[in-house]
Amino acid sequence: MNSTATVARRTLVTPPAPASAFPYNPGSLLSVLDLTVEGVSKLLRRATELEQMDPIVRNSILAKRRLALLFYESSTRTRTSFELAAKALGADTTLVSNLSSSIEKGESLKDTGLTLRALGAEGIIIRHNSSGASWLLEASTRLPVINAGDGMHEHPTQALLDLRTILAHLRPGIGEVNEQTLAGVTVTIVGDILHSRVARSNMLLLPRLGARVLLCGPKELLPEQAARSGPGIEIERNFEAAMKQSQAVMMLRIQAERLAGLQLDLAEYKAKYQLTGQLLAAHAPAAIVMHPGPIIRGMEITAGVADGPQSTILEQVTHGVAIRMAVVERALKAGEGDRA
Ligand code: CP
Repeated sequence: MNSTATVARRTLVTPPAPASAFPYNPGSLLSVLDLTVEGVSKLLRRATELEQMDPIVRNSILAKRRLALLFYESSTRTRTSFELAAKALGADTTLVSNLSSSIEKGESLKDTGLTLRALGAEGIIIRHNSSGASWLLEASTRLPVINAGDGMHEHPTQALLDLRTILAHLRPGIGEVNEQTLAGVTVTIVGDILHSRVARSNMLLLPRLGARVLLCGPKELLPEQAARSGPGIEIERNFEAAMKQSQAVMMLRIQAERLAGLQLDLAEYKAKYQLTGQLLAAHAPAAIVMHPGPIIRGMEITAGVADGPQSTILEQVTHGVAIRMAVVERALKAGEGDRA
């Protein structure tokens, strides 16, 4: 048989790609794409209800349910807020970290997940340095799994809390969202887009609510193909031009731990992309300044801007608790009702 015929036959017999099996568990949140716009709206509404609820009533919602926090990477905001959120709903939590568990002895992610399930965990919140780790954990355990940041891939609850922050400032009083809620809003994300799971989740979420996302940074940290990640995403490499168009400016940390092999001149980076008080006053005096943290003062943002009146950095942290209460409740109650 000649090679052309082989190619033709292969094309004919290749079955269609299967629809994604993920997530297996209706309570899982692996990607912002697991949520419909209506599902996002439901979570936002529920976050506010839970935040405003009597703490004693709230404490009975997940009373004595068991959640494991499995952290292979360090975290302050995400880990603490998930723990506080779960405890506010009455759940019991246990922290398993790669530094103080059998992971150090070489136990695999799959075996760690199965062990936690055998110990009674009803859901797992995972942060991992490998992209896709939460998918593997979900496939292995079939438990509700919440992705608390996987490598350079996604950080869905960060995007949800960022959305809640944006709404609080730019659409005050709006409790629900639809495809038009952020029409006319430009959010500029600045810096290390290439390695940022926060950028990726925001790029996949905000345009679905009508926002325009401008990406800004040097070629080393922002490849051209990023503009093709989805609709509503554009690149503007000139920081001043991007700021002028923005209602929200989201600064990102330079991730030193993921820069190996890249030729990046940090002095040049600061000269072009550091957000200073002078630049902000000149080009975006009414914009909110966001940052997922941890911030590196004097690198991507000056201390004056981080502590200044336009900064929402600590508000974002506070919104994280409310959002994570809603996400944790959804995780453990999804089997009991309809799915977001
Ligand atoms: N934004 C964020 O994920 O912060 P942590 O790494 O401190 O959790």
